[in-house]
Amino acid sequence: MPCAVVVGAQWGDEAKGKIVDLLAQNADVVVRYNGGPNAGHSVVFNGQTFAQHIIPSGIFNPNTLCIVADGVVLDLEDLAKEMHSLTSRGVSLGNLRISPNAHLILPYHKLLDRLEEERRGRGRIGTTGRGVGPAYADKASRCGLRVGDLLDERRFRASLRQVMELKNLILTRVYGAEPLDPEKIADECFRYAQGILPYVADTTALLRKALLENRKVVFEGAQGTMLDIDYGTYPYVTSSHPVAAGACLGTGVGPREIDLILGVAKAYTTRVGEGAFPTELKDERGDQIRERGHEYGTTTGRPRRCGWLDTVALRYAATVNSLDCIALMCLDVLSGMPEVQICTAYKTKNCETKEFPADRSLLAEAKPVYETLPGWQEDISSATSISELPQNAQNYVARVSELVGVPVEVVSVGPDRRQTIIKDDGAVARFMK
Ligand code: IMO
Ligand code: MG
Repeated sequence: MPCAVVVGAQWGDEAKGKIVDLLAQNADVVVRYNGGPNAGHSVVFNGQTFAQHIIPSGIFNPNTLCIVADGVVLDLEDLAKEMHSLTSRGVSLGNLRISPNAHLILPYHKLLDRLEEERRGRGRIGTTGRGVGPAYADKASRCGLRVGDLLDERRFRASLRQVMELKNLILTRVYGAEPLDPEKIADECFRYAQGILPYVADTTALLRKALLENRKVVFEGAQGTMLDIDYGTYPYVTSSHPVAAGACLGTGVGPREIDLILGVAKAYTTRVGEGAFPTELKDERGDQIRERGHEYGTTTGRPRRCGWLDTVALRYAATVNSLDCIALMCLDVLSGMPEVQICTAYKTKNCETKEFPADRSLLAEAKPVYETLPGWQEDISSATSISELPQNAQNYVARVSELVGVPVEVVSVGPDRRQTIIKDDGAVARFMK
């Protein structure tokens, strides 16, 4: 069973990094397939904390090939900083490979992201402001520049000049902003490119070879299912494909190669930015989850919106991703609550439904229907098996599994790698052997 996808099953920030780190320990290849510097997770390695945005956490293992694939968008300055933060603290990048087809986030993408959010005003999406949406928009409009374009400086400068004619018209005439200088931007790109180009390689070919050799490959998704451009809560989404199918689209690996699809979900729900969130708690219980779970963004520091677990959304995520199993994260954050609630259906004006509405505008008015379970007061942070959990916590995990229709195979009871319960006889345990 050599090929696994780790996919966010909610609105991002599901602690996917911890699961990827776990699987990466004995993986030969870790591949990031979508998103850009909007993603973020902290990794603790040798007592030092690293904030990773692009480079897979497999980088700490020198024997793991780390691939930044075609589906990713890169900001050269951010990437150079992330690389420096690793090398300056003794982490080798010898095992890093970057696809020449990954698109570049350029300064006008960041500026347009910010200006467009300002223009939207109350209708804003609440983006991370990293230029991710405008960069993917240019990719779809076929006027994006890619990592591989940096290999020919003269052609790169000519393309940039051409693209920026229109960008500057938009900046000045639509937004009343100052134009940007293409030559300055190109100079900056080539300053950073020097340190980045040595890592550029045909990553699709590397992956094909790894699969032929029966190597263990982990695909790492950024964001989550509900932020997918097609399957998420459009328009309050990111501009890429976080869903499991994105692992194929973003890497050039065919769907038959995937053996295991692991959905990562927190034991509750969080969301950053705008958009519907049926189980959001705007009271002290939401605050309690935020403080106990340190629910503040790694990329922007924004407080995350918090609420109960939504199994309507999770069931939907199980379907669109073909989830084999779930990793239920941050269960410890719910300890100490007198009771816990699980959303099992939505009530809208006309009906009650267990289906995630295809018409996303219905989500805004959806009221959650809850099932209430008794909470547990015990500290669960040192439990090493499901049976060591208090009975009420065991019941919670079992009920989630039942409602979603997918086995919970991993339960996280604390931030440390060791605070992870993995079901002995499941697909995840088999993958890790
Ligand atoms: P990780 O990988 C949570 C959200 C933003 C906003 C929307 C669009 O850490 O799970 P964008 O900048 O992508 O155009 O913003 O998507 N968003 C995330 N929310 N976790 C993330 O990544 C996110 N990346 C983007 O808050 O609502
Ligand atoms: Mg995050």
